[in-house]
Amino acid sequence: MAIFQWTDKYSVNNKIIDSQHKKLVDMINELHTAMSMGKGKELLEPILNDLIFYTKSHFKTEEQMMQKAKYAGYEEHKMEHDQFTNKVMDLSKRYKEGKTVLTIEVMNFLKDWLINHIEVSDKKYKEVI
Ligand code: FEO
Repeated sequence: MAIFQWTDKYSVNNKIIDSQHKKLVDMINELHTAMSMGKGKELLEPILNDLIFYTKSHFKTEEQMMQKAKYAGYEEHKMEHDQFTNKVMDLSKRYKEGKTVLTIEVMNFLKDWLINHIEVSDKKYKEVI
């Protein structure tokens, strides 16, 4: 079962961003499903790598749109992106080194961060970009 169900209430009224957010939701669900099925590191690691790669790419798209629109909240928003990226990259590093495991708490952190970020921070630029 999916850990995160996309609905239109998460829309920021931008087709490109909405489709990227949906893809992130799919990737979190894929990672959660693989983890729940007890899949090994050899399968979880590439999914986590893809999630990080796609997240960075999404943040870049969003930041470029905000800059283009001269969005006043750009700096604050970018800081949130950077903090999350650093945290997830650190998690991935520790996971690869065998210093941590992927748990339901980790999955909930990823899901909750994304939901909160879309609903609070991303929606703030809704009328601007
Ligand atoms: Fe959609 Fe600000 O991340």
